[in-house]
Amino acid sequence: MSVSQTKYKVPESFAKNALVDETSYNDMYRQSIEDNEAFWAEHGKRVSWSKPYSRVKNTSWDKDDLHVKWYEDGELNVAYNCIDRHLKDKANEVAIIWEGDDPKDCRHITYAELHAQVCRFANVLKSLDVKKGDRVTLYLPMIPEAAFAMLACARIGAVHSIVFAGFSPEALAGRINDCDSRLVITADEGLRGGKTIPLKSSVDQALKHASDVKNVLVVRHTSNDVEMVPNRDVWLDQAQEHVALECEVEPMNAEDPLFILYTSGSTGKPKGVLHTTGGYLVWASMTHEYVFDYKQGDIYWCSADVGWVTGHSYIVYGPLANAATTLMFEGVPTYPDASRFWQVIDKHNVNIFYTAPTAIRALMGQGEAFVKQTSRKSLRLLGSVGEPINPEAWEWYHRVVGERRCPIVDTWWQTETGGIMITPLAGATDLKPGSATLPFFGIKPEIVDAEGKVLEGPAEGNLVIAESWPGQMRTVYGDHQRFIDTYFSTYKGKYFTGDGCRRDEDGYYWITGRVDDVINVSGHRMGTAEVESALVAHAEVSEAAVVGYPHDIKGQGIYAYVSLNASVDPSSELATELIKWVRTEIGPIAAPDKIQFAPGLPKTRSGKIMRRILRKIAEDDFSNLGDTSTLADPAVVDNLIANRQNKK
Ligand code: PRX
Repeated sequence: MSVSQTKYKVPESFAKNALVDETSYNDMYRQSIEDNEAFWAEHGKRVSWSKPYSRVKNTSWDKDDLHVKWYEDGELNVAYNCIDRHLKDKANEVAIIWEGDDPKDCRHITYAELHAQVCRFANVLKSLDVKKGDRVTLYLPMIPEAAFAMLACARIGAVHSIVFAGFSPEALAGRINDCDSRLVITADEGLRGGKTIPLKSSVDQALKHASDVKNVLVVRHTSNDVEMVPNRDVWLDQAQEHVALECEVEPMNAEDPLFILYTSGSTGKPKGVLHTTGGYLVWASMTHEYVFDYKQGDIYWCSADVGWVTGHSYIVYGPLANAATTLMFEGVPTYPDASRFWQVIDKHNVNIFYTAPTAIRALMGQGEAFVKQTSRKSLRLLGSVGEPINPEAWEWYHRVVGERRCPIVDTWWQTETGGIMITPLAGATDLKPGSATLPFFGIKPEIVDAEGKVLEGPAEGNLVIAESWPGQMRTVYGDHQRFIDTYFSTYKGKYFTGDGCRRDEDGYYWITGRVDDVINVSGHRMGTAEVESALVAHAEVSEAAVVGYPHDIKGQGIYAYVSLNASVDPSSELATELIKWVRTEIGPIAAPDKIQFAPGLPKTRSGKIMRRILRKIAEDDFSNLGDTSTLADPAVVDNLIANRQNKK
């Protein structure tokens, strides 16, 4: 990524009204590091506890005694915090603005209505025998019922596991089985860009491989016909007719699980990242308020999907815990045309807008006219998340969308971190395009070299975090050892992020991308191992190696090297079939952009694939392939270069 030297000062008008300015950021940050426990004792009070905590922090990252507990003797309920506690003053204020795929579809849901919806939903869950601690899988489009379902689970202490509705039935089945869900909540169909997405029928297919599921609860959305299996499938609207209107909240221990969310790692199948109740909520709500400088009355829009962690923390839990008005968008940025985002901003007077670099780059490619035909006067603050934002896209977002008036917060974090970790605070931090800038309160980032030596001052290396924070994931569901091995074994006593990072002379952090075998496609995280195992599951494929390569819009594209069985000839038809195959096995987001048939892969004599070489060839940069003399058959490389798919 090119390095931008530009620096944008905090606009004075912004600093004057912001929650924190530079001085208060420095003071609060210093306190949060020097007296970490006292800091979190104080800020834990931002949520309501039915039983106050007396112990704030009990954490150890020693891999022989690894535990992470925050506020461990406190009790609270997340749904109470996101709804009930606001009813006294804000019952009639809008909690959720829903903007449908079709610009004619829109709903405003007040806190009072949210309360009513969530109570009834929770009673339906109870009627289906869902109990505290049970896992419930959600496979839903971006409709308010997704938020109702999450909060209904939280209300009764069930643990939700949301599977992004773009994942295939096979991927859904794997995630249902891994956490042993007995209930799946879905909709008849989803709608995106004017097209219907057959969700219920995908669930039906998935359940052929997930036989422990007892019930499927179906939200009526498009109202098109779907098959309902007797004694298993239940319409939400019908079930709601028979339940009580009120539902008490279940008191939860701070460390009781709130949700599981599957995410890709560098090896094996996706991991069930487990987040718990108290620390997560403190983290989500505090970061939401400070990073977005959220003030009561602001209209806030995060364009993510609830199937990803950004949707969990910054569409639902963070904003609702802060009694915010949060906008939820069902559609895509280019439907009916490429000005949709900006039209939605005008229609609902959005003040704060949070999206992903891939969307910005895609819209940038459509030209400025789509933006300029809208007003966007309501906008005050812009945000970016999910992947490094290239300075060109940053500048366009700043100049064209925000008319140089709106600061941009480039927020670095991960599914595992629960919420934002490194970010500017708009009233406090001068901005540099492409840099996530400085740590949030309580976050102690370090840059280490391959041996784990901590580098001081300006440096480049791997990013680790040296101190626990309340929103940290607690374990990999069902596999605590994997949690320890993945995050705490590379560097002793530190959380390894998997990201590379540079720190400049101002102490600003610049995330350079993953240093492991995880790729980031349009802000979606994908394990190369997952795509490889899908490819080798095809009858004609003997071996596959997958790497990322720079892609103008997606950030990274998926490049697959495929070796076929001896009797099979490569063909463009087979390449197309393999791309389709991966779509079916995992989902469209995992579909390779390029397939290169390769009679052999570059392997060391011990049989290890040298991915470094494959990455270089995929980038069409093979002038410096490094030492290839250790390869079992160096001639393989010449063949790969001759047949490369990304010739410039
Ligand atoms: O590589 C980093 C990248 O996304 C990864 C985390 O992906 P996921 O768990 O799916 O969460 C995405 C939403 C938080 C990170 O390891 N990443 C995320 N935000 C940024 C980023 N890279 C650079 N800059 C960011 N702002």
